[in-house]
Amino acid sequence: MKKDINILAIETSCDETSSSIVKNGREVLSNIISSQIDIHKKFGGVVPEVASRKHLERISDVIDLAMNESKMKYKDLDAIAVTYGPGLVGALLIGLTTAKGLAYGLNIPLVGVNHIEGHIFANFIQYKDLEPPFVCLVASGGHSHIINVLNYGNYKIMGRTRDDAAGEAFDKVARTLELGYPGGPLIDKISKKGKADAIDFPRSYLEEGSYDFSFSGLKSSVLNHINTMKMKGLEINAADIAASFQESVVDVLADKLVWAAIEKKSPYAVLAGGVAANSRLRELLTEKCKENNIKVLYPDPILCTDNAAMIGSAAYYKFIKGETSSLNLNAIPNLSLSL
Ligand code: KG4
Ligand code: ZN
Repeated sequence: MKKDINILAIETSCDETSSSIVKNGREVLSNIISSQIDIHKKFGGVVPEVASRKHLERISDVIDLAMNESKMKYKDLDAIAVTYGPGLVGALLIGLTTAKGLAYGLNIPLVGVNHIEGHIFANFIQYKDLEPPFVCLVASGGHSHIINVLNYGNYKIMGRTRDDAAGEAFDKVARTLELGYPGGPLIDKISKKGKADAIDFPRSYLEEGSYDFSFSGLKSSVLNHINTMKMKGLEINAADIAASFQESVVDVLADKLVWAAIEKKSPYAVLAGGVAANSRLRELLTEKCKENNIKVLYPDPILCTDNAAMIGSAAYYKFIKGETSSLNLNAIPNLSLSL
């Protein structure tokens, strides 16, 4: 009988301190996520120094909880997985040094994982039979990529944002509307009370055939609209603005993902990253895919947001190929996916 591979994973790239035990790449035995959102909320965004300090305070407890819940013993572990980029350097270093200490102490391999790659793997946890190839949109607070997932560890980036990431645009518009932080879920919620066609905000498709994104023009349009309304002394309807803004973002995201799926003959249009939790994106993508016979896949919200289970899953496929990391592995804040 094949031996089970148990990986303890650590994720600290931004404002979630997370640890998970993943068995054979797809079975999550525990996935503990300690979010710092309530702390950063006061500042309207993530404060890097505060994030690092909170990771340091919480990491040991989070790992203990992950181990306890999994019912595993340290001797049952085969590797330690950790996000080493992209992300906030101080935050990454807390996870990385902890992971190195564990790998060294237990004398088992360290497996460094790219955070963007990790987001894709949330879908392998969600859909136990899913296999590459497929196209995937990874949209979060820091990234918006359309990726052709050719195989485990083999990716071609078809498009990426040229300015703001999709989640960043959600967060900035929410701040302007004084909705709070993080903006994505709040805009998603308030949009349900607004009209998506109330304001004709621009949709940026860029050059024909391009899978790149640009959201800064849209963001400026929203700001201009709000300022103009204020100057004219007119009432600002936050629900209508949010719904119209959201529609502009998700329309372009969904269109480009469908086009990519058609071009690559992918049977699936796969979503990943924090923005994959957006209810209108899921709905609109499903509508657009129906016409083209493409199946829409997305992880549960808890696997969309930053979590260590997705890192443990990605690490498993590296581990079985012998792709482990040296204990000299460093944090790379701007790590790209083309490895
Ligand atoms: O993947 P994630 O947790 O962290 C990063 O890697 O950045 O993504 C966080 C981003 C934030 O910008 C947040 O506003 C956005 O995902 N987000 C959403 C929704 N839930 C989270 N954006 C739109 N709609 C949502 N429901
Ligand atoms: Zn993320």
